[in-house]
Amino acid sequence: MRILSGIQPSGKLHLGNYFGAIKQHMHLQHDNQAIYFIADYHALTTVGDPQALRENTLNVALDYLALGLDTQKTIFFKQSDVPQVTELAWILSSLTPMGLLERCHSYKDKIAHGIFPNHAIFAYPVLMAADILIYQSELVPVGKDQKQHIEVTRDIALKFNSRYGEIFTLPKELIVEEHEVIPGIDGQKMSKSYNNTIGIFESEKSIKRKVMSMVTDSKTVAEPKDPDQSNLFALYSLFADPDEREAMEQKFRAGGTGYGAVKKELFQKIIDYFAPYREMRKEFENSLDNVERILTEGAQKAAEIAGTTLNKVKQAIGVLF
Ligand code: TYM
Repeated sequence: MRILSGIQPSGKLHLGNYFGAIKQHMHLQHDNQAIYFIADYHALTTVGDPQALRENTLNVALDYLALGLDTQKTIFFKQSDVPQVTELAWILSSLTPMGLLERCHSYKDKIAHGIFPNHAIFAYPVLMAADILIYQSELVPVGKDQKQHIEVTRDIALKFNSRYGEIFTLPKELIVEEHEVIPGIDGQKMSKSYNNTIGIFESEKSIKRKVMSMVTDSKTVAEPKDPDQSNLFALYSLFADPDEREAMEQKFRAGGTGYGAVKKELFQKIIDYFAPYREMRKEFENSLDNVERILTEGAQKAAEIAGTTLNKVKQAIGVLF
């Protein structure tokens, strides 16, 4: 099966990215043909500083490699290195009703959070549709916040196929229910734009500070607590095995355990879980040439697939004779 997913280099990758998407990306690459990319043109909608974009992009590449990307098997590249995708985005724009984009939650959310609405933020799902369709992707592993974008992609593909013939594969989203929305330290969805993230490779000191500052209710140590209402329990569960999770659930319900103690346990779990990946990351940091080579080779392979699709599309729409 062809799997595809992208991630924006709009800041440091966090636990929401990892459990919502990257963990699945790493599992799925073994038995499928996986294509993963760094969506730098998408990040351009919010990152205006070229040095920051460069640094973030390199960091995302290092993070993916450290977290277990199979460089022999998986195609990994920078979105902007395959320009065919922006060409397809323009073509798809002509088939995309304004209303479809106006209904997108992520666009509405960004506006609500005071982000200046440039055209690219509005047109963002069309570029994402091009990303997905140009590689004839079947399954797109993402967090819940991207579900609507994949529905939009299907709508656009259906429209195209019915007007011009069956060219695009219709993609489906793959969302792991227990990981569909990972909460941040304030209890809202963990997100770079809400300033509530815990970075995968942040310093231990900083992770500790953030975990210890997580927002909880004001129950005393002795009082019973509701695990289903606790972002602390939700994050702990991501790292715990079923027995540990069950034991923690009982401690919550029984009372006698304070949030401070749970925070310390969560902090240790985060550090232990990512320790081997931190080691791997250091190795890649010391071979940046290698990282560049991986991205360049990935872009070549991706461009081949993209070029084939784009040719068919251009013939179908009547710009290629
Ligand atoms: P981005 O960069 O915002 O996020 C990358 C992935 O992480 C998931 N995610 C979460 N999942 C659960 N809980 C959270 N708190 C959380 N925060 C982030 C996202 O759902 C996503 O899967 N538009 C995409 C990038 C993109 C793309 C694509 C994805 C561009 N083209 C084509 C798939 C296919 C985005 O902004 O993801």
